[in-house]
Amino acid sequence: MSDAVRVRVPAKVNLHLGVGPLRADGYHDLVTVFQALSIYDDVAVAPATTLSVSVTRDNGRGSGSRDVSDIPVDNTNLAARAAIALGEYVGREPAVSIDIVKRIPVAGGMAGGSADAAATLVALAALWKLDIDRAELVELAAGLGSDVPFSLRGGTALGTGRGEQLVPVLARGELHWVLALARDGLSTPAVYRELDRLRDNGSHEVPEGDVDPETAHPDALISALASGDAHAVASHLHNDLQRAALSLQPTLRRTLRAGVDAGALAGIVSGSGPTCAFLCADEVSAVNVAAELSGAGVARAVRTASGPVPGARVTDE
Ligand code: C5P
Repeated sequence: MSDAVRVRVPAKVNLHLGVGPLRADGYHDLVTVFQALSIYDDVAVAPATTLSVSVTRDNGRGSGSRDVSDIPVDNTNLAARAAIALGEYVGREPAVSIDIVKRIPVAGGMAGGSADAAATLVALAALWKLDIDRAELVELAAGLGSDVPFSLRGGTALGTGRGEQLVPVLARGELHWVLALARDGLSTPAVYRELDRLRDNGSHEVPEGDVDPETAHPDALISALASGDAHAVASHLHNDLQRAALSLQPTLRRTLRAGVDAGALAGIVSGSGPTCAFLCADEVSAVNVAAELSGAGVARAVRTASGPVPGARVTDE
């Protein structure tokens, strides 16, 4: 596959996820702060006679995938949809093979599917030597899914709208994370539906037509990120979807407690979950927390990662 273009793309965690009321189009307005983490999928795109997708699990250290056989390899795969969308946009047949090496947890709240779609856009643009600017790719990305523009961009960013409208956020230094991967995945739409159900039950009143107060601008978190103080960042982590994820997978409470007991500064459900993300004071602490969490038997697998890292990038490997 010497004519393949290879792209490396990171996972994400939401440091803040404020969710407004359900909109008429089935989405929710968000105010979110994303950070890209050093857990990557590798996507190779090469010319072929027809469009195809393959997904393999990385069996080496760092493999986060539970079972890649759950991932569709037909045209419903978001990476295939990315190839079709870009092909339509530039008037080309998307006759390419897309080979994905999976390390980002599947259905884990870390934007694994979105990452593969973003990587496919970048790889195809390079393979076809397209004269396409970043803004056009971002537009196509937003049409594929709310998290796809962030997977393209990476770093640390404030997201509004469905999460697809991004501005960069200054984050000084490196943050060190431990990720506890769950045995079963969670469906993102199901977690949003559960949040709506919990709110309608009166446990969280959202005034009609209003944006939930929790979607207010996360100023304190943004200041903490600029200062580079991990303790300050830890005290401002927030996720409105967390209680919905905990309602669907109550055992995650035990996982969150175990990470903090092991020495993490704070723990949070990542996006729609069920991956739990723990912010640690430094790299040594993260290694210790990971070792202790592995021994506690509260997760399928445990990984360390750091952030921020860049978004989808062509590699020469
Ligand atoms: O945009 P994406 O296809 O990734 O979203 C998946 C699902 O997550 C949507 O169909 C919707 O149920 C939910 N979602 C939402 N509000 C958002 C983003 C996603 O309700 N801002």
